[in-house]
Amino acid sequence: KQSPIIAPSILAADFARLGDDTAAALAAGADWVHFDVMDNHYVPNLTIGPMVLSALRKYGIAAPIDVHLMVKPVDRIVPDFAKAGASSISFHPEASEHVDRTIGLIRDSGCQAGLVFNPATSLDCLDYVLDKLDLVLIMSVNPGFGGQKFIPMALEKLRRVRRMIDERGLAVRLEVDGGVTAENIGAIAAAGADTFVAGSAIFHAADYRAEIAAMRTAIG
Ligand code: DX5
Ligand code: ZN
Repeated sequence: KQSPIIAPSILAADFARLGDDTAAALAAGADWVHFDVMDNHYVPNLTIGPMVLSALRKYGIAAPIDVHLMVKPVDRIVPDFAKAGASSISFHPEASEHVDRTIGLIRDSGCQAGLVFNPATSLDCLDYVLDKLDLVLIMSVNPGFGGQKFIPMALEKLRRVRRMIDERGLAVRLEVDGGVTAENIGAIAAAGADTFVAGSAIFHAADYRAEIAAMRTAIG
């Protein structure tokens, strides 16, 4: 298991002052920026794209930007995110006709590649591609909206993926996304996650620094 990463989801940030709010979360101790891309097709919501990512880079955000694609199709938008300055790009296997090809496309574009599993999506394809991934993202809510409640079944899924990663001796990061708070993050870490996305818990807190510190303490 690798050192813990806290990745605030800017879906919960103030979009009217996105650069400042993102910088504030990083200054408060966050490690990565989690960037949720929704297309009103794969998920019933519409958010931000490569232009906003490149604007954040231009503004001076230097931390890793972890792009979570909730879009279908995936392949044709990958080069745009790579050019805009994405560090990692993760996608849902249901959204790509050829999962192995999409992973290759992301890696060839110079980004780290991740695969995302919805609460009811089976982990089967991991048997075939785990060694080609940089991260596995387990959704602990149904994708599309911030501020939802953590689905406890995700803990069992995290344990299963942690076992797979460790059995194969891989350095793949195990990320969790949805309803993560300082209250449940300890149990989530104990289930094997090492990378934690949190949107509303951080951006709706009065004090970002105190919230992130409380999360780190609970992770242990
Ligand atoms: C949901 C997104 C999440 C979301 C998390 O589709 O992928 O990243 O913003 O927000 P919270 O932490 O509020 O559940
Ligand atoms: Zn996300």
